[in-house]
Amino acid sequence: MLELAAGLGDTGLMAARLVGEAGRVIITDFAPEMVAAARRRAEEMGVENAEFRRLDAERMDLETDSVDGVLCRWGYMLMIDPAKAFAETRRVLRPGGRLAFSVWAARERNPTLSLAGTVLVELDHIPPPDPEAPGAFVMADPGRIRELVVGAGFAEPEIEEVPFRWWFADQEAYWRFLTETAASFSPVLRALSPEALNTVRERVHEEVRPFHSGEGYDFPAVCLNVMAH
Ligand SMILES: C[S@@+](CC[C@H](N)C(=O)[O-])C[C@H]1O[C@@H](n2cnc3c(N)ncnc32)[C@H](O)[C@@H]1O
Repeated sequence: MLELAAGLGDTGLMAARLVGEAGRVIITDFAPEMVAAARRRAEEMGVENAEFRRLDAERMDLETDSVDGVLCRWGYMLMIDPAKAFAETRRVLRPGGRLAFSVWAARERNPTLSLAGTVLVELDHIPPPDPEAPGAFVMADPGRIRELVVGAGFAEPEIEEVPFRWWFADQEAYWRFLTETAASFSPVLRALSPEALNTVRERVHEEVRPFHSGEGYDFPAVCLNVMAH
């Protein structure tokens, strides 16, 4: 089993547990820091049937027909050339192997991630999103998913909507998520002056007021989970 764009390896480490001792998971990301962090987590958790590698999903240093399954959570939509990444995925998968991946549904259905972007556009800190450029919502259209997956040589995929709730204990926790972990915002936010950052923070908290719950926030969120052979 191969995990692409694994980040800290949440999904691959779960898969390692599921495949048991006889199975093996290769957890990969193109950022060496992510690979190192995922490896540390596996050591802490005592996972022994996973290996860790730096791997670019658009040009995989792996043999053709060499893995039984490929997993990728929240990765393909951020790749510069997703068609190439799906073609590479098809190449390394054994005939009959399965691909399972998750991407975000439309921005209106994912306020946790989209509202901060809306504020940054309104305040002229970033340009309006380019629908063709890599980004959280570029694979939100099931038609686009089908086109990419079938275009890479897979059969018609199964696409399932998966709604969930995204909780933040307080305003600070949500702000930390945006400034420290949200890949599309944190570099922009970190580059702002303290005054500009404060204005953004106030506007973001106004925008997300409808999702207030207790001290923090309770956002709806929707992913599209896809399975293909
Ligand atoms: C939003 S994070 C998702 C991380 C993880 N899969 C998760 O669900 O928590 C996206 C990850 O994709 C990685 N990434 C982006 N483009 C990539 C590529 N072409 N090849 C491999 N990894 C890539 C980034 O380094 C980052 O760790």
